[in-house]
Amino acid sequence: MDKVIFSGVQPSGNLHIGNYVGALKQWVTMQEGRDAIFCIVDLHTITVPQDPKVLREKILEMTALYIACGIDPEKAHIFVQSENPNHTQLGWILNTITSFGQLERMTQFKEKSQKYGENVGLFDYPVLMAADILLYQTDEVPVGEDQKQHLELARDLAKKFNKQFGEVFKLPIPVIGKEAARVMSLQAPTSKMSKSDVNQLGTVYLLDSEDQIREKIKKAVTDSQTHISKDRGSEGLSNLLTIYSAFKNQTLTDSYNQLEGKSYGEFKTLLADLVVLDLSQIKKKYEEIRGNEEYLNQILDGGRDFAIEKSNETMQKVLDALGLGRTA
Ligand code: TYM
Repeated sequence: MDKVIFSGVQPSGNLHIGNYVGALKQWVTMQEGRDAIFCIVDLHTITVPQDPKVLREKILEMTALYIACGIDPEKAHIFVQSENPNHTQLGWILNTITSFGQLERMTQFKEKSQKYGENVGLFDYPVLMAADILLYQTDEVPVGEDQKQHLELARDLAKKFNKQFGEVFKLPIPVIGKEAARVMSLQAPTSKMSKSDVNQLGTVYLLDSEDQIREKIKKAVTDSQTHISKDRGSEGLSNLLTIYSAFKNQTLTDSYNQLEGKSYGEFKTLLADLVVLDLSQIKKKYEEIRGNEEYLNQILDGGRDFAIEKSNETMQKVLDALGLGRTA
């Protein structure tokens, strides 16, 4: 049987190059020869305040973007989390084997609750994420580095459940890219590039115009040196080299070897050319399909039916293991 890969993105804000090189680019490679399932995790998104109209709008936008980035709907399944109630049901069940301490340790909860205020959903977020993954007997989960701690929790919960109630869940393995697992803000390179950064210059969005991309890269923070040298330079510079390497599909070491001696100005132009080329193709494809809502809805309908059917198998095992409901 093919290996199952599962991953997801929140339909909040706009997708940026961190999401692209940290997650989506890996999804595209990994969809080959595997049973690939990609979710639009709208239930996770409402753990911080959202405008309902915008949230709905984002579902089709995200679907079109997945495809524009190279997800092939003939090979992979794309669906919306809230359309498969098994996610919340398993999330509830996993709550009963999760300790407060496990969730209190989560760095994303600490960061987000400081920024947006606390709610129980935000605290419980990683348990729902564990349910997302475990429902599909997932082998591999391609994500950026910021999700590593959540993945560890998913494994721990799967182990605990299996030990207590019998072997039901497969233990998922996180697949975190070596080079671009954590893309930093172009303006504050000690913080992660993020959809909700107030400084718009720090984030390059997939649908930015050529001028915006060039401006953001030109204004990216570097350091007081003027030329690239192998001693790797500041966080700002190494972040730009990380992005360069990811877009060029080569290692960071190869990029340093190739670019050593170039002025920062020359390098930024090369980087901007590379990013503009890739993103313009994504944008072109996006614009071709975004208006075809019938096509996008068909993909999501098929994805939903597949997701429900596949996850029902695991859900029934869970209910049986726990003695919930009546005998089938
Ligand atoms: P989200 O929507 O914040 O991000 C989507 C994916 O993009 C990666 N990512 C980054 N990678 C590199 N550099 C960055 N600056 C950067 N910012 C984001 C994230 O690691 C992620 O892979 N909790 C998840 C969504 C989720 C999920 C799941 C993922 C819910 N259930 C089950 C996998 C499996 C999240 O908030 O991703």
